[in-house]
Parts: sequence; structure tokens; C-alpha cells
Amino acid sequence: MTRLVVLALVAACSRAPRLPEQPIAFNHALHLSVELDGRRLGCVDCHAGAERAEHAGLPALRDCLRCHMRPQLGERGVPSEREAAVRKLAAAAAPTRWVQITRNPGHVYAPHRAHVGIAKLPCAECHGDVAAWTAPPTEPVQRLLRMTECIACHRTHGASTWCGACHR
Ligand code: HEC
Ligand code: HEC
Ligand code: HEC
Ligand code: HEC
Ligand code: HEC
Repeated sequence: MTRLVVLALVAACSRAPRLPEQPIAFNHALHLSVELDGRRLGCVDCHAGAERAEHAGLPALRDCLRCHMRPQLGERGVPSEREAAVRKLAAAAAPTRWVQITRNPGHVYAPHRAHVGIAKLPCAECHGDVAAWTAPPTEPVQRLLRMTECIACHRTHGASTWCGACHR
């Protein structure tokens, strides 16, 4: 428990506000209506760990290049500058690091596998209507960063409220 308190203090101190700067301003709404191999893109096409791992994960540039290797045409039948920026980023050959906005301190264990794979909770129950996002989030989702909120939902569903379930 002492370790937990120390970790919590370290986490609290490092939680300085920082403006998110994404490699490219990604548009969820646009991409969730795009088709790949005859079906619409789904969340797990880019967040591969959401059903079976702790972290949902953020996509690698190679996931984008499945389509953007070739210019993707916009409404006016020409690729936009913003679209071409995906290939520029690939040509730069530097690793693409998306900034995760909603993030708990390291001592918190909130496995997607339990929530999505086992409890079958829809992503929107926790993250809201991501399919309507036209730009990356700028603010963390506070409700996912509060122990009381985790526990409230666990009580409703009869899931574990044991300290050791969420703290490792
Ligand atoms: C084509 C790829 C792609 C698809 C499909 C996609 N996402 Fe994303 N998602 C991203 C990228 C890139 C980011 C990081 C940049 C950003 O936040 O917009 C991201 C960020 C997020 C974040 C923000 C995490 C944080 O706190 O920073 C959430 C939540 C999320 N996605 C949920 C979803 C859900 C739910 C779906 C399905 C409805 C979905 N995504 C479909 C690519 C995708
Ligand atoms: C029970 C609530 C809950 C559900 C349901 C849920 N998430 Fe999350 N998600 C979280 C929490 C909490 C975090 C912050 C994790 C952390 O602290 O790192 C998160 C973080 C993320 C992130 C940031 C990157 C990462 O790897 O953690 C993405 C992307 C994401 N979720 C996508 C999804 C998608 C896609 C679904 C549905 C398939 C989904 N989530 C369902 C609670 C949830
Ligand atoms: C299934 C194919 C597919 C995948 C995968 C995909 N895209 Fe796209 N993308 C498109 C299409 C189609 C357009 C539409 C062109 C338009 O309307 O401008 C587009 C447009 C864009 C644009 C320009 C439109 C805007 O938002 O201003 C950007 C930037 C972009 N994509 C980034 C990404 C990134 C980053 C990834 C990976 C995280 C990704 N795309 C993955 C098909 C895809
Ligand atoms: C919307 C409701 C909801 C929210 C919010 C939620 N959970 Fe859960 N969680 C569940 C359910 C339901 C289960 C049970 C899954 C199962 O059947 O095993 C679960 C399971 C878990 C487990 C696995 C427990 C075990 O016994 O193996 C952990 C760990 C966990 N949640 C952590 C968290 C954390 C940390 C948060 C907050 C950041 C959180 N959860 C938020 C509904 C939720
Ligand atoms: C369902 C998940 C869950 C359970 C169960 C849980 N916690 Fe937490 N706890 C969290 C999350 C998420 C945070 C980080 C957000 C916050 O500080 O509220 C946290 C934060 C903390 C912190 C750090 C507080 C701070 O100010 O940074 C301590 C200490 C803590 N928990 C102790 C406990 C103890 C003791 C128990 C058992 C009585 C417990 N937790 C049960 C999810 C949980």
C-alpha cells in the first residue's frame, strides 16, 4: 500500500497540462464511413488490442497506408493536401507517435479485454460517440480517470471492487 501511495504522488506531480500535438489531425467520423475490402472500417481495425489485450492500442502508420499508399480521393475527385500528408509522414520514416489523451497513472489496471472481450460493453459506454469525432480529443474524459466512477459501474454490474483488481 505504501508503494501505491508513492506511485500516486509521482503520478499526481507528473500530471502537468500539456497541449496535445498529433502527427496528423485524424478524423474518426470520416474514416468510420470508409470501406476496406467491401466492409466499413471498425474500431478494432485501428485499435487492435481492444478485445483481447489490456490496451486498445493506437494504430501504426502502416495501418493507414493500407489505403493511403495510393492517393485517396476527396469529394472533388482530387487528393487533398492533408491526405497527401500521410504519405509524407511515411516518407519521413520517423516513428508516428499519437498522443494518448485519456490516461490513468501506471498503478491502475483497466484491461480492455475484461470490458470489451468479456463484459461486451460497447466502446461508446466509456468513450462516448467517437464515431462523431471530426478532430482528435483535446481534453481527457474525466469520468475514466476517477476511481469512484470505475467502482460505481462495477457495483452496478456486480464486477470486482477489490483494490487488487484495479491496482497492480
Ligand atoms: C482508421 C483508423 C481508426 C479507426 C477505424 C478508429 N480509430 Fe480511434 N484513433 C485513431 C487514431 C489515429 C487515434 C489517435 C489520434 C486521435 O486521437 O484522433 C485514435 C484515437 C482514439 C481514441 C482517443 C484515445 C485517447 O484518449 O487519446 C479513442 C477513445 C478511440 N480512438 C476510439 C475509437 C473507437 C471507439 C472507434 C470505433 C467507433 C475508433 N476509435 C476507430 C484511429 C482510428
Ligand atoms: C469500461 C470502459 C471502457 C470501454 C468499454 C472501452 N474503453 Fe477504451 N479506455 C478505457 C480507459 C479507462 C482508458 C484509459 C486507459 C489508460 O489509462 O491507459 C481507455 C483507453 C483507450 C484508448 C487509448 C489507447 C489505449 O491503448 O489504451 C483507446 C484507443 C481506446 N480506449 C479504444 C477503445 C475501443 C475501440 C473500445 C471498444 C472496442 C473501448 N476503448 C472500450 C475504458 C474503456
Ligand atoms: C480503409 C481505407 C483508409 C484507411 C485505413 C485510412 N484512411 Fe484516411 N482516408 C481514406 C479515404 C477514403 C479518405 C477520403 C478522402 C477525402 O475525403 O478527403 C481519407 C482521408 C484522410 C485524410 C484527409 C481528410 C481529412 O481528414 O482532412 C487524412 C489526413 C487521413 N485520411 C489520415 C489517415 C490516417 C492518419 C490513417 C491511419 C490512422 C488513415 N487515414 C487510415 C481512407 C482510409
Ligand atoms: C461502464 C461500466 C464499467 C466502467 C466505467 C469500468 N468498468 Fe471495469 N468492469 C466492468 C465489468 C462489467 C467488468 C466485469 C467483466 C467480467 O465479467 O469479468 C469489469 C471488469 C474489470 C476488471 C477485471 C476484474 C477481474 O475480476 O478480473 C478490471 C481490472 C477493471 N474492470 C478495472 C476498471 C477500471 C480501473 C475502471 C476505471 C478506469 C473500470 N474498470 C471502469 C464494467 C466497468
Ligand atoms: C474498479 C477499479 C478500482 C478499484 C476497485 C479501486 N481503485 Fe483505486 N484507483 C482507481 C483509479 C482509476 C484511480 C486513478 C484515478 C483517481 O485517482 O481517482 C485510482 C486511484 C487510487 C489511489 C491514488 C489516489 C490519488 O489521489 O492519486 C489510491 C491510493 C487508491 N486508488 C487506492 C485504492 C484502494 C485502497 C482500493 C480498495 C479499497 C482501491 N483503490 C480500489 C481504480 C480503482
